[in-house]
Amino acid sequence: MTTLDVLKAAVAIGPSMRRTADDVDALFERILANPPDPRRRLYEAMRYAAVGGGKRLRPLLVVACSSLFEVPRKQALRAGLAVECVHVHSLIHDDLPCMDDDDLRRGKPTVHCAFDEATAVLAGDALLALAFEILGQPDTHPRAEVRAELVVELARTAGAAGMAGGQMLDLLPHKEGFDLDAVMRLQRLKTGALIGWCVEAGAIMGAAPQELRTGLRGYAHCVGLAFQIADDLLDRQGDQATVGKRVRKDPEQGKETFVSLLGPERARKQAELLVSQAIDHLRSFGDSAALLRAIAQFAVKRDH
Ligand code: IPE
Ligand code: IPE
Ligand code: MG
Ligand code: MG
Ligand code: MG
Repeated sequence: MTTLDVLKAAVAIGPSMRRTADDVDALFERILANPPDPRRRLYEAMRYAAVGGGKRLRPLLVVACSSLFEVPRKQALRAGLAVECVHVHSLIHDDLPCMDDDDLRRGKPTVHCAFDEATAVLAGDALLALAFEILGQPDTHPRAEVRAELVVELARTAGAAGMAGGQMLDLLPHKEGFDLDAVMRLQRLKTGALIGWCVEAGAIMGAAPQELRTGLRGYAHCVGLAFQIADDLLDRQGDQATVGKRVRKDPEQGKETFVSLLGPERARKQAELLVSQAIDHLRSFGDSAALLRAIAQFAVKRDH
């Protein structure tokens, strides 16, 4: 596809995003209904963090990639719900006083502020566990080997070799010599890994041939980096009320990012370059990948 074809095939992301967000909310409401005993405080904290707010970009990626391989939407949504559980878990823990110490998330007080620290730790733990419970259930995919592959890949992605490892690198002091390569490695783990799983999940459920998976991995790699650069730009330039979380935190906490190392203008150019590279990786898919292209563009153009 030429750039012109891509522009012509551009789809508005809004309706797909809203539909996915509504579906994710409804599933969370159902799964996290209060039990008739004092554990209800934990469920309330989980629902507080998981329902409403949030762009649901990861579930949308699973839905968009699954649709390339005719995976039923119901299955794609369950995998999307699982990855959103891991994501929300990571946000609750990322905001704790022992980590980024944030009091605002998705436009409202963070879980440890609205409840308490111990409840926030447990709500994060329980959401992480819930992700694997959802993936392991037959409604997610009729074939046990497929479910096992989803579980193993998500475990690898969320753990020390992926997101948790990236969070460790981010928490360690960013000393002198913390260069772009170091930032890229950190961001690939803390943000990129989970975004990569979303795309991989569609390919796993849809039994995609290896040659197509290579392109999809290239796409996810570029989108993951671009998405985190946009997050860093929002920290530098965003408006707190729109972003829904505290801004100007990265410099305050001495964190090196693409923005601190390159300046906002070059960082934005870099993110835009990554988006066009992401779109290039989808060339063998034609029109069927219009939503994935729109997601790549949204990853950088967003204001929250
Ligand atoms: C924020 O993720 C944390 C990062 C990994 C950059 P999102 O920007 O996807 O947050 P929500 O889900 O929309 O709140
Ligand atoms: C958080 O990165 C990434 C994870 C939660 C894994 P940030 O610390 O930059 O995210 P925000 O800016 O608080 O959303
Ligand atoms: Mg952080
Ligand atoms: Mg943070
Ligand atoms: Mg950030």
